[in-house]
Amino acid sequence: MEALECIKGRRSIRAYTDEPVDRETINSIIEAASYAPSWKHTQTARYTVIESKELKDKIAANCTHTYPGNGEIIKNAPVLVVVSFIKNRAGFERDGSFSTSKEDRWEMFDSGVATEAFCLAAHSFGLGTVIMGLIDDSIKEAIDLPENQDTSCVICLGHAAEAPQAPRRKAVEDLVIYK
Ligand SMILES: Cc1cc2nc3c(=O)[nH]c(=O)nc-3n(C[C@H](O)[C@H](O)[C@H](O)COP(=O)(O)O)c2cc1C
Repeated sequence: MEALECIKGRRSIRAYTDEPVDRETINSIIEAASYAPSWKHTQTARYTVIESKELKDKIAANCTHTYPGNGEIIKNAPVLVVVSFIKNRAGFERDGSFSTSKEDRWEMFDSGVATEAFCLAAHSFGLGTVIMGLIDDSIKEAIDLPENQDTSCVICLGHAAEAPQAPRRKAVEDLVIYK
């Protein structure tokens, strides 16, 4: 798939078929996402892939109080991917001080860059995704996230059972200033 077609054709998918996603494809998506750029090439993004229906249903029921609508989507998706990052690396100097005035925000920045690469790679494999930020912090405990990591978002992954229109984009004139 051509890059522009992939970028523009990716949509947030909130309804999935029952067709499972094989591990080989999931690993290929993660391998592609590993080519995302990262702060000083620290590569802090990590992926917890949840295939277990039991754990997925538990997360849908217990970790979506922030926005219960996400619980319905998670229950219906064949795979849930929790995106996390190794803390205190992206945006940090070796002595533990911040590298810039943006302090620790580079951690989430890198995680976002990797997440978009993941979603684009999934799209190129013919799979749908939706990124979810409205998830309770309790998800860390639900998946036994190691202490040295924090979560950024979750991604539902599966074969699309819908083909939504792209929500309208702002005009380039509203996005850009040339000087
Ligand atoms: C950081 C982030 C958090 C998001 N959180 C949610 C969410 O919690 N639930 C949801 O259904 N969609 C969520 N979305 C998806 C957006 O609503 C979606 O990207 C936007 O409406 C544009 O649609 P498109 O992705 O099809 O282009 C999130 C997207 C991003 C980038």
